[in-house]
Formats: sequence, structure tokens, C-alpha cells
Amino acid sequence: MTHLNRRHVLTGVSAFTGLAAMSGAGCINISTQDFPQRQPGDWTLGFQNTSGPFLGTNQINRVKGRIPKGLRGDFYRNGPAIRHRGNTRVQHWFDGDGMVQKFSLGEDRISHKGRIVETEKYLTDKEAGRITSNGFGTSVDNPTPPTSADSANQANTSIIKVGDDLLALWEGGSAYRVDLETLETKGVKSWAEGMPAMPFSAHPKVEANGTIWNFGQDAFGKRLFIYKISPSGDFQGLSEIADVPGGLMHDFCMTDKHLIFMLPSLRASKQGVDYLSCFTWMPSEAQRVVVVEKNDLSKRRDFELPPGLQFHFGNAYEEKNGDIRFSFCTTEPEFLLTGLKEVLLERVPAPAKGRVTQAVLRMNGRAEITSEISQMGDHEFPQFNQNYTGQFARYLYTVGQNHMDRPLQSAILRHDIETGDVQSFDYGKTAFAEEHLFIPRPSSTDEDDGWLIGTVLDFAKGSTQLNILDAQHISDGPLAVFDLPYVLPLGFHGTWVGRRA
Ligand SMILES: [Fe+2]
Repeated sequence: MTHLNRRHVLTGVSAFTGLAAMSGAGCINISTQDFPQRQPGDWTLGFQNTSGPFLGTNQINRVKGRIPKGLRGDFYRNGPAIRHRGNTRVQHWFDGDGMVQKFSLGEDRISHKGRIVETEKYLTDKEAGRITSNGFGTSVDNPTPPTSADSANQANTSIIKVGDDLLALWEGGSAYRVDLETLETKGVKSWAEGMPAMPFSAHPKVEANGTIWNFGQDAFGKRLFIYKISPSGDFQGLSEIADVPGGLMHDFCMTDKHLIFMLPSLRASKQGVDYLSCFTWMPSEAQRVVVVEKNDLSKRRDFELPPGLQFHFGNAYEEKNGDIRFSFCTTEPEFLLTGLKEVLLERVPAPAKGRVTQAVLRMNGRAEITSEISQMGDHEFPQFNQNYTGQFARYLYTVGQNHMDRPLQSAILRHDIETGDVQSFDYGKTAFAEEHLFIPRPSSTDEDDGWLIGTVLDFAKGSTQLNILDAQHISDGPLAVFDLPYVLPLGFHGTWVGRRA
């Protein structure tokens, strides 16, 4: 473990840039002419371009119920929203210019606005009238070579409030600052003077006292960068952990004392046309789990778990004997490598078969999978009461289930880690359920006393809905449903910024 100075940081960036130096050879040519404007009833509605770089309305139809008293604040989301430009089109769901959505919940009304994050790449592509550079899983003819970790940054994955700003997050480069009210882009977030573009993951973790931890990965350099940020948003340090296998890692988890990084069996192995094509699925390669102490990042333990792949983690906690237990949602490598490309070709991919999985890292150095829930499969976007981050949390919430005639999930599920009981609500065969956040009821004392809030695309109606559910009774269906007068492109992650009712 090394505390980084400016020289180390610059080395890190050049390494990342080097591996991203891709040629356009072998790219797929797709014409937007192949994708005429879609009408309600078509499941591909959520994979089209946003209808404009700015969205906004106070005219949100209340279909059902009332906004619960105590649920006042702003619900932000992020996701790719411009997927084709000129005759070029992204080829993977993870690519596309990010758009931040803001739902403001008042006494009995909701307003919405959305705004594209004006990244360097967005402005370059807009000027050129085409997609000019390769991306996570996209390659174009005659790509502009990357000049930094931010030249392909689309700030399209998640959003978090840090200090007085929202940060629109990617993972291969910097966060972008976004205004909390107007959603105007305020530029790249620089954590320290002279610090260049660095990988900064889309899944920072926040301690109960507000301290933020995050990582950036240099998969080819086999190292992780660890960020520590104060509750007020001040940068407290960047450290490097070396000799970390280059498994494609998107998320991590933490206990009160430790950070836990799980390196999948999808390993950086070769030069590629786009970033994803640099990775190879190695089905006999064990997953490596690297655990470091928060108070001394040089104190490290390594574990092995069976070969696998996952995007997202639930919570982690430590037993009295020091064993670490954590949960995550598995996925199939084919789903990442080809399935999430298929949806951009408007073809239905094979299900990801995502499982809610729990594992233990024992003090004796052994690790094992302790349970795997297959009921109502294809689980993703695990969430829990974040007041319990790092401690035992009994309940985990996922979106899941799938219909075989179209991709992705339509149900929201609640998993009781202690009993294995599962409660669910299915939005129906014409719905895509997106991530639902758990919002604790103010002054609540029970872990599950609160609401789930999330968006659902009803492609039959041709609108995106905002849904609010009672987290203790999700099988009863939403307490309240609001209908936007337009479709929002399907996105990824969100955050909640509450205000006093
Ligand atoms: Fe994610």
C-alpha cells in the first residue's frame, strides 16, 4: 500500500490511458436508419435517445395514492440518455451520454427535470455530430485516441451528493460536478490541486458519520486507488493497493472496520477495440477478495471464492469473532459481454440469472458462499437501509424476475436475510422496474420502517412512472404512483436528498 504523491498519480493515469488506447478495427457499423422512432408498446422505448437535452414538467399525473408524510426531498437518478448521434450508435447499454434526473417530492405534488451532463466527450461528439471515440463496449470508425482517463468519460452511471454538489459518476474517470437545483454541469471534480483525471468508481460508500470511501481501478496495472473523503466533501487522501488481480470490478462493500474488494473471474488480459473486449472470462479462475483495514490500508488479507462475476453488492458486516459476511447479486458473463449489447440491437438476450448470494470471509483465512437465493431470479440493484452500512442489516431489496420475451426485470423484491422469506410485487409484463432506493421514515427505529422509491418504464403506456412503496408491505403494491408525460431512457443508479417535512 502506498500513499500517493503527484508523481504516482500521473503514473496511474498514463497506465489507464495506455490500456484505453484502442483502434477502431473490427468495430460494428450500425446506422440509426435501422432504428426508426418507436411507439408505445415496444419494449425498446427505454433504449432510445432522450427527447431533448433538457426535460422538465410540473404536470405529473397522480395515478394513485398520496406522497407519504415525511417523504419530502429530491430523488436523483443517472443513466445513459443519448445513444445515437448522426449515423453512429452505442453498442452496449453501459455507453451513452449521462443524463441526471431530479424528482422533487413536495406536500402533494411531484415535479421533474432532467439535464444532460455536459462532459468533454458530450461536447466533442455534439460538435462533430457523431460518436467520436470508443467506449466501455462501443467502437466506432476512426476513433479519436484517448488523451486522458476523462476523454471517454460519459458520467452516466450514478449520482451522489458530496458537500454542496451532486457528483455524476462514471468509473474509468473523474466525477463531474452538477448543480443540485438546476442540474447544470459545473465541470470535472478535482479532489486536489494538480491531480489529473483518475478512475473513480460509481459506487462510493458512506459511513454513518458521513465519511465517504471509494475506489478506482487500474485493472491492467493490477492496482486499486482508494479515496477517503470527509463528511463535508474534503479530500482526505488517496492510497494505492498493488498486486490486485485485474478482474472487472464495478462495486465494493465495507464493514465498520474494513473495505472489501471482490475481483471477478473476468480478467484484463489483452488489448481490445473497446474496454470490455480487453477482458476474458476465465471460468476456472477463482475470484480474489482483498480486504484492507480502514485505519491502516497496509493491513491486508486475501481470500478466494469460486469463479464468478457480479456488478453490485449489498451490505457487509462483521461477526464478534471477526468473520466478515456480505451479500451481492451474481450475473452471467455472457449477459455482460453480449447480452447488454443485444438490447442495443433490439434483440432479447438470455437472462442474466442473477442470484442474491451471501458469502463469509473467515478469520482462519477460508472463504465460502453460504447461500444463494434463486427464487424469482435475475436479481439486480441490491439496496438496503443505508443507516446500517457496515453493520448487520436484515433486509435486502432487489429488482428481479424476468419475462422471456424481453430483457430485464419487472418486480421489486424484499429478502429477509435471517429467515430467507421473500416478499415481492410485480409491476406487470409491460414494465421495466429500475433500481428502488430504501428511504427510512424520519425518526424510525425499525430497520425496515420506510419507503422504497423507484422508477418504472411502462412501455405499453409510453411513460415513466415514479412509484412509492411501503418497505414493510411491498407485496401490497405501491402506496403512490405518478405518471410522467414522457419516457425516460432506462438508467442505473440514484440517490435521495431529503429535507425536513
Ligand atoms: Fe452500478
